[in-house]
Amino acid sequence: MSDDSRFFAYLRDRIGLDVASVGAPMIERAVQLRCKAAVQPDLSAYWQLLQSSPAEQQALIEAVIVPETWFLRYPETFDALARLAQQRLATLKGVRGLRLLSLPCSTGEEPYSIAMSLLDAGIAPAQFKVDAVDISPLSVAKAQRAVYGRNSFRGQQLGYRDRHFQAEADGYRLNERVTAQVRFQAGNILDPALLAKEPRYDFVFCRNLLIYFDIETQQRVFEVLKNFTLADGALFIGPAEGSLLARMGMRPIGIAQSFAFVRAEPEPAPMPSPAAPVIAPPVPVRQARAARPAPNVTPRPRPVLAAPIAPQAARDTDNQALLTHIANLANGGKSLEARAACEDYLKQHAPTAQVYYWLGLLSDVAGDISAAQAFYRKALYLEPQHVEALSQLAMLLAAQGDTAGARRLQERAARSGRSGEQEPRG
Ligand SMILES: C[S@@+](CC[C@H](N)C(=O)[O-])C[C@H]1O[C@@H](n2cnc3c(N)ncnc32)[C@H](O)[C@@H]1O
Repeated sequence: MSDDSRFFAYLRDRIGLDVASVGAPMIERAVQLRCKAAVQPDLSAYWQLLQSSPAEQQALIEAVIVPETWFLRYPETFDALARLAQQRLATLKGVRGLRLLSLPCSTGEEPYSIAMSLLDAGIAPAQFKVDAVDISPLSVAKAQRAVYGRNSFRGQQLGYRDRHFQAEADGYRLNERVTAQVRFQAGNILDPALLAKEPRYDFVFCRNLLIYFDIETQQRVFEVLKNFTLADGALFIGPAEGSLLARMGMRPIGIAQSFAFVRAEPEPAPMPSPAAPVIAPPVPVRQARAARPAPNVTPRPRPVLAAPIAPQAARDTDNQALLTHIANLANGGKSLEARAACEDYLKQHAPTAQVYYWLGLLSDVAGDISAAQAFYRKALYLEPQHVEALSQLAMLLAAQGDTAGARRLQERAARSGRSGEQEPRG
């Protein structure tokens, strides 16, 4: 084994990190830096030290993790969560409060965003608790301090900062009303003892972690996440991470840009009833596919949270309105109309990857796999880093047994998902 590959293998076994996801140079640099910081003459000596020193193991992990995060990252997710939480509390009728998990929580922006969103939706502090876990004790300590700089506040909508933070000399301090809702701990998602004594959660967030794992580790972690989530609960993941979930018995919840998944098992009693589970409302277009549930169809350029669009939008000459209209037709289960709108769009405008992506999804939903593949490939021809097209095509290839091809696309999706993080969408 070469000098570097044993470190790659160590990090893979210890925290799941796939060298392909972040690139070998990044890990090599971190190892060299730690070797120097630990005053070791060479990598062999550093390797010996690593074997025997838990402190050095943690230091190396801190050097390779990607703690990038910010408040209300993918804001539609938090809107969807607030709605689902209200519905769920209504069905629970005060029997218990909601249990939520943020794993990985990094420096706390995600679990605090969960708490702020629920409080802002009028949910009382006593009605929910958030557990938050990350492998990095340094990140967890920052989260517990709850003082944040400008980089944690991105986008234009910063009203929540006025509501929940106090400006101080070294940043914005989060109010105790929010911090009191979150309980932090350091922990590794690969550790079988993690949260073993905790009851399951209504809502689990695991966003922007799976992209750093290889497919085998992703599958293992999905099983862990499913175990953390109540059977009728929901799992929120990152935008580039959906492709495997469908193969793991989960399906998108049907709220655009929420990246929320629920179990795909058939509901035990299909009779309409006010007491029926409120999470996972049936989405007819997706139920047509029993073998591999269809992915959610979402408008990438300008996210809309299940907002109804007026019919005349189809005639709107504004590209954006038409794209949004197509997305809403598709999300509303109106596959034929959505397909017709895509075809109209392509007659009137220059081809765009997003429209070919939708055509791919609509073909996929209709069971026309070869057409779906052709459309995804067209989308990728126009926009080689189109994350959703990469992910969906990867899923199709994997279903056909082309694991190598699927993996290559997954890796591309992971890389472009990460580079997209520099410029948050929406
Ligand atoms: C990019 S951040 C994601 C934070 C947040 N979920 C978000 O989407 O904004 C990835 C986090 O995963 C954590 N992490 C990496 N491997 C982990 C593991 N095996 N168990 C728990 N956390 C891990 C890192 O410490 C880092 O804070």
